[in-house]
Amino acid sequence: MPNTGNTVAPAANKPPAKTQPANMPAAGGLEIRDTRTGKEYNVPIADGAIHATELKKINTGNPNDPGLMSYDPAFLNTASCRSAITYIDGDKGILRYRGYPIEQLAESASFLEVAWLLRHGELPTQQEYDKFVHDITFHTYVHENLRKFLEGFRYDAHPMAMLNSSIAALASFYPSARNIFDENERNISIIRLLAKTPTIAAFSYRHAKGLPSVYPDNRLSYVENFLSMVARMAESKYEANPIFSRALEILFILHADHEQNCSTSAVRAVGSSHVDPFSAISAGVAALFGPLHGGANEQVLRMIKEIGHVKNVPAFIEGVKGGAGGKLMGFGHRVYKSYDPRAKIVKKLADEVFKVVGVDKDLEIALELERIALADDYFVSRKLYPNVDFYTGLIYRSMAFPTDFFTVLFAIGRMPGWLAQWEEMLLDKEQKIARPRQIYIGPPERPYTSKLKSARSK
Ligand code: CMC
Repeated sequence: MPNTGNTVAPAANKPPAKTQPANMPAAGGLEIRDTRTGKEYNVPIADGAIHATELKKINTGNPNDPGLMSYDPAFLNTASCRSAITYIDGDKGILRYRGYPIEQLAESASFLEVAWLLRHGELPTQQEYDKFVHDITFHTYVHENLRKFLEGFRYDAHPMAMLNSSIAALASFYPSARNIFDENERNISIIRLLAKTPTIAAFSYRHAKGLPSVYPDNRLSYVENFLSMVARMAESKYEANPIFSRALEILFILHADHEQNCSTSAVRAVGSSHVDPFSAISAGVAALFGPLHGGANEQVLRMIKEIGHVKNVPAFIEGVKGGAGGKLMGFGHRVYKSYDPRAKIVKKLADEVFKVVGVDKDLEIALELERIALADDYFVSRKLYPNVDFYTGLIYRSMAFPTDFFTVLFAIGRMPGWLAQWEEMLLDKEQKIARPRQIYIGPPERPYTSKLKSARSK
């Protein structure tokens, strides 16, 4: 197609991609012919994408025409950022943090090592790691007023609602965290969020149980300390079952980041207003609470309970297919279309935990759901496979965590990812306040004629 001179040049203020990843198609151009005007445009392609603002330059010539937009509800095919943190290939079932395969990190890394990696891009040296662990260990306490704030919740408050509001409340304890472009402030806020989230989570657990809060124990590792705050009774030092603490550490690693998922996008969008990190992260916790996202692990267990017996599985699956039975929770993913690599690791982990505590009574139902769904054309044709949430609930339950606490565990794991993505967004010169466009479909202008007897309030 000839270029008629309406070339849409790359925007001058947009820095080029630093490196072209090996899997990315070469840069080029997209030739577009607007059949409304007959005009032709060449839109640059970089990193397998066109810049949506380039489309704005395509217009009818009418002064009222704001230019072409792309319409993408739910961001099915829109990249909102460049990110160097997490790589996913959904067709091949690949997940890597900063280039490291999730399988290797789950096998050998510690959660705090992964947290450092996600933020800094490289694995920590021994010295960096020791300081990081020390800093986190010494910021695990929360202000007593925050503990009292948690006491104000009803005994049956959902722990995600407690976590969400407590993290938002932290903003009131650390007003200087609003200096988000001060590296020291960002650093201490990140340490505080990593250190205090398990404390808040454990306090909310104890509140629901009517038990006194257990304060952090600096002698313990991150995961052991969390388990101590959850489960310690009268013993002077809590000793966690090593299988449980390693299993939980692996689950935290598996959840640590997942590129632009719903909660991370929420953190980025809210953080893009330059609010403090506690407020931005609380938005992520809120998004994670939803049953289509992190709340799915809780819903899987509720679904299994409702199914009740393995003999009811075929009827349940038929109900899902017919649309009347809701979704098969723990199945399907926006990105993974062959398998979720995290689910594979979780299933293996479940076997190891069940060896210690005995097989979960509902495992049989879960296995039957998986077996039938994976052989059923409804699920196969839609590429619906078990996701990370399908088996995590069974592991959490075998460790005696209550069902409504499962998503809190996900949130502790996701914290380093949210923080790394928040900081990457802030330092990214291409980013601005998140503000999508819309296609207005409401009424045109019309005169106000009140239907009330007297419109003005009295
Ligand atoms: N059970 C039954 N049908 C499903 C399911 C499911 N779990 N997931 C998707 N479908 C169907 C959906 O109805 C649609 O069918 P049709 O083409 O006939 O309209 C088709 O599959 C495509 O689904 P979609 O809703 O367009 O997919 P999406 O990418 O918008 O949604 C999802 C992804 C994860 C929200 C969805 O699969 C789902 O709701 N799954 C159950 C909840 C869940 O397990 N969430 C955890 C996700 S992984 C961890 C996390 O991110 O937190």
